Amino acid sequence: MVEEHTVMTGTRTYLPDPSIRDQATMQEIETRHREFRDDPGAFWDRVAGELEWSRPYAKVREWNHPHARWFIDGRTNITRNCLDRHVNNGRRNKVALIWKGEDDEERVFTYRQLAREVCRLANGLKSLGVGKGDRVCIYMPVVPEQVISMLACARIGAIHTVVFGGFGAGALNHRIVSAGAKVVITADMTLRRGKRIPLKSVVEEAVVEAPSVEHVIVLRRDLEQPVEIHAEIEVDYYGLIGGMARDCTAEEMDSADPLFILFTSGTTGAPKGIVHSCGGYMVGAYYTTKNVLDLKENDVYWCTADPGWITGHTYVVYGPLLAGGTVFLTEATPDFPDPGGWWRMVQEFGVTILYTAPTAIRMFMRFGDDWPNRCDLSSLRVLASVGEPLNPEAFEWFYRLIGKEKLPVVDTWWQTETGMHMITTLVGEPMKPGFAGKPIPGVVADVVDKAGNSVPPGTAGALVIREPWPSMMCGVYQNEERYRQYWSTIGTCYTAGDMAVKDKDGYFMIIGRSDDLIIVAGHNIGTAEVESALTSHKAVAEAAVIGKPDPVKANIIKAFVILRQGNVPGEKLKNEILHQVRMNLGPVAMPSEIEFVDSLPKTRSGKIMRRLLKAKEMGIDPGDISTLED
Ligand code: WT7
Repeated sequence: MVEEHTVMTGTRTYLPDPSIRDQATMQEIETRHREFRDDPGAFWDRVAGELEWSRPYAKVREWNHPHARWFIDGRTNITRNCLDRHVNNGRRNKVALIWKGEDDEERVFTYRQLAREVCRLANGLKSLGVGKGDRVCIYMPVVPEQVISMLACARIGAIHTVVFGGFGAGALNHRIVSAGAKVVITADMTLRRGKRIPLKSVVEEAVVEAPSVEHVIVLRRDLEQPVEIHAEIEVDYYGLIGGMARDCTAEEMDSADPLFILFTSGTTGAPKGIVHSCGGYMVGAYYTTKNVLDLKENDVYWCTADPGWITGHTYVVYGPLLAGGTVFLTEATPDFPDPGGWWRMVQEFGVTILYTAPTAIRMFMRFGDDWPNRCDLSSLRVLASVGEPLNPEAFEWFYRLIGKEKLPVVDTWWQTETGMHMITTLVGEPMKPGFAGKPIPGVVADVVDKAGNSVPPGTAGALVIREPWPSMMCGVYQNEERYRQYWSTIGTCYTAGDMAVKDKDGYFMIIGRSDDLIIVAGHNIGTAEVESALTSHKAVAEAAVIGKPDPVKANIIKAFVILRQGNVPGEKLKNEILHQVRMNLGPVAMPSEIEFVDSLPKTRSGKIMRRLLKAKEMGIDPGDISTLED
């Protein structure tokens, strides 16, 4: 549903520190935009040329709507570019991965060591009969073996499907069965806030009705009380790789071969298996890690996502390793044992790039300024955000408290389906809180009406991508119909499912999913917009709004609000908050009801499930809730 709707303008613009907004940087961005406009093929050819191909591609792109092929007939293996290329070119003893546990446990892998571990597991998988094209489900805690498992699959051309370790047996079973996984890799447990949460028992339940599963590989972390291994189908991880050779020739993969399947977080409807390819995905992940997150040789790079999400796939594992970076990874929960843990880790490990999510930022805001202020955060040079709109208050806090009003805040818009960043503010570009930024060089995005025509600045519309890009999903697993929908809803564009508005400078503000639009008395209201207005009130920590059917206005807006510590719920505060929304967005966007709550239902990736709030409000069945946290 696309209708005209004008949003507020006049957001404050932040100019980055002169040290990063130098002439050379700005010129480089301009040059890259121009090079892409002039010759998209040559542009992507140059990027792909920085990576190794065992057989050079014959052609950069073939576009046969809605299917694109990238780097046609090229052959490579992403792990050659993530590992061998560095081992053989001066990064052999460079630290690839630093892992920190919940306690003081630390594990460090150089590129050589990481390559060795990947090869041993790859050989182990082969010994179990896993080969090219087979699906392997990875259900692991955030430990180095999770990353190693992904790379080991890629090494032998097996297709991994990582399932976030917080999912339950039903959701896991659904994904194993949908993917037809032959092997599941898991661990005895994950640690969360000092508690052991069993994983293997979840897998045991999930594989009961999963006939495709032949083996379960179990990483035993607790060696004092090791879990029992059932010899019929289970094997011990280190028992398996113990006798395995330390090298394993990388399987030659065609550029178009699938690399992985990832089921989307499913805020709406049933999970879809998004498929990404070996060649195109690799080029997109590499390009954006270097040019959006600005990963350089001496960086200590920390993306706080679980590798089990797309953000983890592209920006914990593949992107930074393709770029030869040093990746920091931790199993620790942000607020355990206290809300200072993250900032102490930044200080201790000298993190230079921090890539996180608005939901985490807002949580830290609630704990106050003291925690970050106690730590030396001066190693940081780039801050980045992903997952939902970074509302101006969260932006400001991140910029001021963590970035000390000097660092760039890169708000990256993209999706599981896009595989890589699409719209963002690049390091050095002026930042506008509330706006993600502009399409990066290589991406042709627009805001359009139902017919696919661009709408003028200040008018809301559907966010679309007009041209294929290398890391676009190559399909929805066993669901061509669903894949085609993405490319046939609005003209021949890729429809992202988000509503957006552009300003006069071409900056995109994401105003919510199109399914998160509320139509109130003929006006389209984006939930994200109202929520942002609500959270701009100093007493509000978090907010979610839904449309509630109304005989006159079609819908009215109901808001669920979590207050910051120290605020007392009551009529007076309600009126103050409503006044704030009215001042921000106007009367049309005013909630008719406010309910103060202690928590909001969220997906495990941190997205508010408005659908659940709505179902509860209306007393109807919420449908699939497999992605709900707790
Ligand atoms: C949806 C994709 C891609 C990484 C994690 C989520 C929302 C994502 C932003 C942003 C506003 C954002 C969109 C998008 N989203 N990043 N920077 N600003 N909205 O992946 O689960 O596939 O969700 O997340 O609604 O469509 P995902």
